[in-house]
Amino acid sequence: MRRTEKEQFLREILGDEQPPAHLARAVIEEKLRAAILDGRLPSGIALRQQELATLFGVSRMPVREALRQLEAQSLLRVETHKGAVVAPLINEDATDAYALRVLLESEALRQSIPLLTPDDIAMARSYIEQLENETDYAKMGTLNRLFHMTLYSRASNRRLLKLVEDGLNEEERFLRFNLKYMGLGKLSQHDHLELLQMAEAGAVESTVAALAHHLNRGVEAINNYLKSRPAEVAKPASASRKRALAQ
Ligand code: NI
Repeated sequence: MRRTEKEQFLREILGDEQPPAHLARAVIEEKLRAAILDGRLPSGIALRQQELATLFGVSRMPVREALRQLEAQSLLRVETHKGAVVAPLINEDATDAYALRVLLESEALRQSIPLLTPDDIAMARSYIEQLENETDYAKMGTLNRLFHMTLYSRASNRRLLKLVEDGLNEEERFLRFNLKYMGLGKLSQHDHLELLQMAEAGAVESTVAALAHHLNRGVEAINNYLKSRPAEVAKPASASRKRALAQ
């Protein structure tokens, strides 16, 4: 993609209105976050500090800060030679992504369950209850992530927890826009309750087995959904545009 084409693409998506200097970081961060979350900025596209600074007529500093915040939220990842790139979203490789999650989250459960406190269990239970009453699909994804993270939260290996959280963030982004159409309903609530009861009883290996079942059912639903949805929904950026953006 020629430079001007990319500029034009970013301008269409983000606008080019100059934010007030004292709000620059917050405004740019919010615009980018919204565009990443609703898929207008596809995964893999590189966001360069200078391009964004030029687009918004600001210095590179607020842009750098905004990108750093989005990286901390796992919406961007830094790649060698490309810089900040929009993080991948669950797609054709969902099966691999979930197989990896089963490995990581099983280990997190083994480390965490023996150390869970009654407060942790109460918190996990409150997320299940909130999920039961929630009708906003975006919030359901968040509550699902919080529920799972609570069960893993006492794991001693913090690097493991970071990888686990990346996987859950990726799932949350996916669910935010797709859950409504996936027809999962309240199905997973039964799984969540079972996981909670087993973890509370300290039954580590039963919880691990139930988690594998829960995640495998999740990825099955995702794969069925990805296969069934119309091509234009499946690919928000057209193939040629995606090719152009990759250059
Ligand atoms: Ni779940």
